Amino acid sequence: MNKYTPEILEQVETLLNVGIALSAEKDHNRLLEMILTEARRITGADAGTLYLCEDGHLVFKIIQNETMGIFQGGRGEPVDLPPVPLREENVSAYVVLTRRSVNIADVYAAEGFDFSGPKRYDSLTGYRTTSMLVIPLENHEGEIIGVLQLINARDQHGRVIPFAPYLEKVVSSLASQAAIALTNMQFIQDIENLFNSFVEVMATAIDARTPYNANHTRRVALLAGEMVGVINAVTEGRWGSEYFDDDRAAQLVMAAWMHDIGKVATPLSVMNKATRLEGGMELVLQRLDYIAASLRAEYLQRKMVLANEGPRAAEVETLDRWWQEQEAMIEQARELVIRADNPATFVSEEMVEELEKVARRTYVDAAGEERPWLTRGELEQLSVPRGTLTDTERKIMEDHVEVTRRMLEKIPFTRKLKDVPYLAGMHHEHLDGNGYPQGLKGDEIPLEGRILALLDIFDALTAADRPYKKAVPVEEALKILGFMVKDGKLDAELFEHFRQSRIWERLE
Ligand SMILES: [Fe+2]
Ligand SMILES: [Fe+2]
Repeated sequence: MNKYTPEILEQVETLLNVGIALSAEKDHNRLLEMILTEARRITGADAGTLYLCEDGHLVFKIIQNETMGIFQGGRGEPVDLPPVPLREENVSAYVVLTRRSVNIADVYAAEGFDFSGPKRYDSLTGYRTTSMLVIPLENHEGEIIGVLQLINARDQHGRVIPFAPYLEKVVSSLASQAAIALTNMQFIQDIENLFNSFVEVMATAIDARTPYNANHTRRVALLAGEMVGVINAVTEGRWGSEYFDDDRAAQLVMAAWMHDIGKVATPLSVMNKATRLEGGMELVLQRLDYIAASLRAEYLQRKMVLANEGPRAAEVETLDRWWQEQEAMIEQARELVIRADNPATFVSEEMVEELEKVARRTYVDAAGEERPWLTRGELEQLSVPRGTLTDTERKIMEDHVEVTRRMLEKIPFTRKLKDVPYLAGMHHEHLDGNGYPQGLKGDEIPLEGRILALLDIFDALTAADRPYKKAVPVEEALKILGFMVKDGKLDAELFEHFRQSRIWERLE
């Protein structure tokens, strides 16, 4: 004969199923709710409370009372009760402190605990708290993380009865599975938090390397987070069927946080180059001063020689003219260099020719060596038509994407984030294939890549990301992005959704 009643067998099965369900639940609130609901179901309890230990107190998380129709915490209305201090006279606190469960047949007849709380509740509501089973939630590390308090067990006729002693074991088993599930969830949360704060620290460090756009990464990441909602709200057109669930959204935002991480390896002299010559400007000006001084010395000396040789008016006049020409040439060279050094200047081909003329002139230095007025390197720097970077320097700058990808590939991202290196590595790709580093084209760039490219440019435009470049007003930036769409660089529909959403206003 089977010594287990069908009731017990059913409870065992329920318990097993609950164990499986608990370990599968990924949402903290739903998990808490499930623990109490299932514990009540197994024991037939009318009411119950789930507390978690936080900062030396028991905090109400879930309150359920079927008779009173009360369901608080979890996905229901929030619990608005003060935390319970860990004092032995409180039965739930007692369970935490002693690690022992308590089974009381009738709260009103029980001694040793302060039941003024439930009694007051009863007198206010007309409820009658009778039987009570209080079980600690102990995890696999032997830590009590909370308490399950079950109230008013009922028989099959709905009459309130005491909790059968064997239910203590059953609920304890459920409680320990619940505690493990909660602790695991907390571990995962801790690891995610740790990783996220590490990423934020890295991004802050990158942003801090350039004083001009010190919030670039943060802003791109926040905009990416906002873009998720924008895309999810789109129902028509190319992106109407795209949907970002939590995992896909998290991956996009992570890629945004990491997109410029490779800039850690970009030399500051390139990254923050404010003018075409930057530090080299001083040297050129001093050189021109030296050239002026030595030509003046030569002029004065030759004039003195002429004076000693007697009246030679015509020769003196020629010499004076020569000196005036030299002086003018130096002055012109000085002005030209200052103008070309200025990043706001567009250096035209004519200007380059002028610069080349200056570079062809030579002087004799203090050591007697013949040298050009401008070195080959200085000429190259000054001849950059727009911006401050030479081709070599721009390559170094663009390298940050490659470095980003290489760095991120070393991180063992979880399955949910596995595409972060791939996505972060395409924030400078343009649909027309003229982006870098891979020159990806059209459909080779997924939605995420298009979003990152758009947001990166938007933020670079609206922030003063170069010392010489003033921040472009938003409407102007949108116009420029519109031109880039026309040029086939950025996604037209995506830009339109972005433009209409005005998500940047939420960042302020
Ligand atoms: Fe970048
Ligand atoms: Fe960027």
